[in-house]
Amino acid sequence: MSYPVHRGRRLRRSEGLRSVMRESRLTADQLVAPLFVHDDGSARQPIASLPGHARLSPELAADEAASLAALGIGSVLLFGIPRAKDADGSGAWAEDGPVPRAIRAIKRRAPGLVVWADVCLCEYTDHGHCGVLCDGAVDNDASLPLLARAAVTYAHAGADVVAPSDMMDGRVAAIRVALDRAGASETVIVSYAVKYASAFYGPFREAAGSTPRAGDRRGYQMDPGNVREALREAHADIEEGADALIVKPGLPYLDVLRAVRGEVRVPVAAYQVSGEYAMLHAAAERGWLDLERSMWETTLGLRRAGADLVISYFARPLAERMSEGRMIAEAGR
Ligand code: PBG
Repeated sequence: MSYPVHRGRRLRRSEGLRSVMRESRLTADQLVAPLFVHDDGSARQPIASLPGHARLSPELAADEAASLAALGIGSVLLFGIPRAKDADGSGAWAEDGPVPRAIRAIKRRAPGLVVWADVCLCEYTDHGHCGVLCDGAVDNDASLPLLARAAVTYAHAGADVVAPSDMMDGRVAAIRVALDRAGASETVIVSYAVKYASAFYGPFREAAGSTPRAGDRRGYQMDPGNVREALREAHADIEEGADALIVKPGLPYLDVLRAVRGEVRVPVAAYQVSGEYAMLHAAAERGWLDLERSMWETTLGLRRAGADLVISYFARPLAERMSEGRMIAEAGR
């Protein structure tokens, strides 16, 4: 009597076999590359806590987008860094603001690239909150028309996708109605339905100058202990008209991603946020881990947990390796 002792080992014998038998994989068109766009001259302003990333002028953002598209990357996600901020965040819907200018420039340079515009007020308000304030507290309902106005501005500039990240209740419905009324019924809404109040947004807030001047975001972003609430948020946003959802951050919330993926029938994107990127870079700089392998392993983990799309600051290096024919195999080396 002989026993089948080899099991999976037989399938791991060569990279050819491992590659053919792999359950989850990551392709360039599944990647969404975040870009920061400023309107303060033409310079490239490096972001210290996001190595390899910079605030770009609309023209430089279009160059970068064209080069990402040439690598096969499917989408870019635009964040605006305005020169001037005010209490209402009026720069968010300025037609000549950094994001509408970048959208128009990217659509000229790389018409096939899917352009996502993040919709939020925090980069545009002088107090740094994601909605307007009333007596020092964020006023949910007063913020909705402003978010909707920003979304319409980006849609009219040519954005394929608007992605509200403010976490106000009811903003998906408000944005859908406003888009439809403005003749932008084809514009897709990808909602940050499940966004936790996280320590991992630190480098982003440095890049965007959007750290709240007083208080924090726990009044509108989700509590890290909750997963049932994530499902409720996901269902509510779909009912309001969201076409796809984002779960954010990535690595500390893989269980949430898995639960959301099992619960809904729309595409789900995972956002590997700025602090996740910065943490891997910082450890690699000290020689404590291998950046190449960890970028593959973490992004593949998001796919395995159920993400259809991966928003990541590693989009460019990942796609570059893919174009050189080096794939996920790097993770298991
Ligand atoms: C809010 C927004 C944030 C991020 C994306 N959209 C910051 C926040 O909620 O404070 C963070 C993304 C990242 O950390 O990479 N407009």
